[in-house]
Amino acid sequence: MGPKSTVDVLLGGLKRLEYRGYDSAGVTVINDQGHLDTRKKAGKLSILVEDINQHPLGESHIGIGHTRWATHGSPTDANAHPHLGGKDHKLSLIHNGIIENFAELKAELLAQGTVFTSETDSEVAAHLVAAEYKKSGSLLESFRTVVRRLHGAFTILVLDEDEPNVILAARRNAPLVIGLGDGENFLGSDVAAFVEHTKRAIAVGQDEIVILKADSVSIESFAGAPVSHEEFTIDWDASAASKGGWSSFMAKEIADQPKAVGDTLMARVSSDGTVKLAELAPLENLLPHIDRIIMVACGTAAYASEVGKYAIEAWAKIPVSVELAHEFRYRQPILTKNTLVVAVSQSGETMDTLMATRYAKEAGASVLSICNTQGATLAREADAVLYTHAGPEVAVASTKAFTAQITAIFLLGLHLATVRGTTDKAELHQIGRELLKLPALIAKVLESSESVRDLGKKFKDAKTVLFLGRNVGFPIALEGALKLKELAYIHSEGFAAGELKHGPIALIEEGQPVIVIVPSPTDPDSLHAKVVSNIQEVRARGAQVIAIAEAGDTEVAKYAVEVIYVPVSHKMLAPILDVIPLQIFAMELSAAKGLDVDQPRNLAKSVTVE
Ligand code: G6P
Repeated sequence: MGPKSTVDVLLGGLKRLEYRGYDSAGVTVINDQGHLDTRKKAGKLSILVEDINQHPLGESHIGIGHTRWATHGSPTDANAHPHLGGKDHKLSLIHNGIIENFAELKAELLAQGTVFTSETDSEVAAHLVAAEYKKSGSLLESFRTVVRRLHGAFTILVLDEDEPNVILAARRNAPLVIGLGDGENFLGSDVAAFVEHTKRAIAVGQDEIVILKADSVSIESFAGAPVSHEEFTIDWDASAASKGGWSSFMAKEIADQPKAVGDTLMARVSSDGTVKLAELAPLENLLPHIDRIIMVACGTAAYASEVGKYAIEAWAKIPVSVELAHEFRYRQPILTKNTLVVAVSQSGETMDTLMATRYAKEAGASVLSICNTQGATLAREADAVLYTHAGPEVAVASTKAFTAQITAIFLLGLHLATVRGTTDKAELHQIGRELLKLPALIAKVLESSESVRDLGKKFKDAKTVLFLGRNVGFPIALEGALKLKELAYIHSEGFAAGELKHGPIALIEEGQPVIVIVPSPTDPDSLHAKVVSNIQEVRARGAQVIAIAEAGDTEVAKYAVEVIYVPVSHKMLAPILDVIPLQIFAMELSAAKGLDVDQPRNLAKSVTVE
């Protein structure tokens, strides 16, 4: 809301939020005649933009817009948001999340003769508010009544032409932030929606309603009690969330990794290698007594946690388990007051991870979140937060957030080891100094990535690609396979190299590409020799082996059709370098197949439903 042309602000904001869902898009504005004007289209935002360019919407200063990741009803024009409420269609509503009791509410509306035009749960809310408004004559009161009746997860915004100077919003279990401007105000699922207009933001709390006008903002609880929240300043620039000269966000974000890792280390590791995490102060009393760490996460963040497990156990000598967040709370995990749950999430809004965190807190455990997004729900709900400073990540497939997450978990491991005195100080300092070298080493990997790009093109018609790794290389094999699934829609699997002979080797046939993450030849546990044996085993059965190996590893070159060398680093830190060729491989393969690298089919970056 404000003096600027709403359509431009809405489409600009939706562009920045499109990574959250891109099945369909739509906007409603109140035009200069005082009526709602709604446009919505199935498919990517560009289709809506094209439609609006051909049939422009009139001048307006208030509006709402939405991009969708389909849950109820396929991605069609009719199911796209906004949804109109009431017979006279004077009310428009957008919704993120899932209204769990929508069937029962819909039955009630159908019995009253309401006609539905979509299959969504969201349209139910639009009709309910419109019906209440008819009765009460107050938009706010009807909105309050309706949101209290909804179960599940929702961020809902409504606009009504009979009260054309206000937008009402409600939030439960789905993100919502306010942008405070000068004579203009904004709402968005995250700050990216409005960062080009203002850096001042407020994160809306659970079960709260926002009454937004161009020159005022007030927040209240669902019960109607006033609420106040501190403002925060968005610490990144709008340009950080734009593609710059890159062919895709993913290409840019891969190249950003020296900075993402460097910024995550900044002010936390001193030049002598000492690690200090002031952010852990709220957990100070617990740290010496932790008897178990459970890391909860989904997707790429879960693989970052898997890498971190090796480091924390080795340095801090605390048993660590990594749990997929959506499995965690449904199997009655054992949690005590000495359990530290570490929730790892780029967005800080992944519903599965949030729910796992709430479960852990209720059970008496403490929660540390490792998060990349300021003001995210996870960051606010955890007992302490360790931010990764990767900057905004827009491409759906995570890259720089992954390496920044591993970096942050390494810092956590070093801090815990320091506090608990479990590893020799000199060794910890040496690892700290090795961490500081990572940004330069990543830059080296990026500089020498030409051969990986060629490989991506070469394997574009592969039906299956297998990834093998061992120790810290195992989660990297899993992450490499995930990248290929997400980006190139190629069936790919990651295996622990030692598991090969227990089954997966049956998959190997003539010409099968197998990518192997090879441990350092100086590995004290002789894992290098074991992995080289695995390479020979698959090669003997016809596989084409591509090895990711440490510079100077001449042994492996004898058995691989291609070796991608990465610089020598500390054994535990190698995953941060090893994953980069795999990211580039998947990106190039996707591009060679003519696919959308940034917005792969069926996915959304921030999955705010369970
Ligand atoms: C989705 C994304 C993945 C991401 C996962 C966890 O599935 O497509 O790329 O790794 O969510 O996201 P988070 O924001 O919690 O790290």
